[in-house]
Amino acid sequence: MSTITLRRPDDWHVHLRDGALLRAVAPFTARAFARAIVMPNLATPVTTVAAAAAYRSRILAALPRDLAFTPLMTAYLTDASDPEEIARGYRDGIFAAVKLYPAHATTNSAQGVTDIARTYPVLERMMALGMPLLVHGEVTDPAVDVFDREAVFVERVLAPLMRRLPQLKIVLEHITTKEAVDFVLGAGPTLGATITAHHLVINRNALFAGGLRPHLYCLPVAKREAHRLALRRAATSGNAKFFLGTDTAPHLVRDKEHDCGCAGIFSAPAALEIYAQVFDEEQALDRLEAFASLNGPRFYDLPANEERVSLMRQAWQVPLDVPTEAGALRPFLAGEEVGWRLAG
Ligand code: DOR
Ligand code: ZN
Repeated sequence: MSTITLRRPDDWHVHLRDGALLRAVAPFTARAFARAIVMPNLATPVTTVAAAAAYRSRILAALPRDLAFTPLMTAYLTDASDPEEIARGYRDGIFAAVKLYPAHATTNSAQGVTDIARTYPVLERMMALGMPLLVHGEVTDPAVDVFDREAVFVERVLAPLMRRLPQLKIVLEHITTKEAVDFVLGAGPTLGATITAHHLVINRNALFAGGLRPHLYCLPVAKREAHRLALRRAATSGNAKFFLGTDTAPHLVRDKEHDCGCAGIFSAPAALEIYAQVFDEEQALDRLEAFASLNGPRFYDLPANEERVSLMRQAWQVPLDVPTEAGALRPFLAGEEVGWRLAG
């Protein structure tokens, strides 16, 4: 097979940033994906309907007019989130979902949730509305090893939350472990999970290959090889609980190559093509459409896209740098060859 055609995919987890970075990165997502779930962790988190509507306008203004793209906005959950504000945003079609960052888990999460019990009134309201909760699934307890934080979160936080609010729709975002895969497989249809392209490609050795590799540092951090293989089996299985979410998370090169480098991998310039390559390697190209274009909309109760895109088996080189008005960005797999190319 040298060309595959599928319904235009969606990206169920992106960081589009703001200002100069937004203008530089948004076209990479919009060239491949019809819709994207946009993370709310701006420097000033997107906590209100008005802030999300204004951010959505800035995203649309950053794109060429001929690119049809729908940003799906999210609300940043805090201990003080107001159930009325969240419900109003969902009813008015501004908020597609709510994002839970445990406080201090990752980039711009200082205003995240310190104790999930404080958010029960919001979560109960969301459950009644059928509004999804998107979860950064890592505990922040410094006593827990960084490579165990996802598995411990599943056990300590997610499982009890699902027992308490069994009808709440939850997406466990950017899963990185076999424990998360198994938990999702064992749960009912209210739980789904996104899987990034980079966690299908690298394991934790890649962070230290020949020296420290700051551009491969993200959160949750890549795990052992056995976990990467479990993620590849889950993504390529066709199981409707797993869908595409790149977690493309650009930071300027100077902020990555730093004494305290930022977490995040900027995969948007080649993300769809890398997923295609992974599915090809797993002899599962016939399941790429389910993962990239069908399972996500089904979970979010949205129609699948009618438009089609084609990918060709044709090697190309990922650019070394992507310039922005604020400085350069380094894409995932910069300078390396990817074996599939998006047509058009
Ligand atoms: O690596 C990451 N980068 N993980 C996250 O959870 C946040 C993201 C970011 O916004 O930079
Ligand atoms: Zn993210």
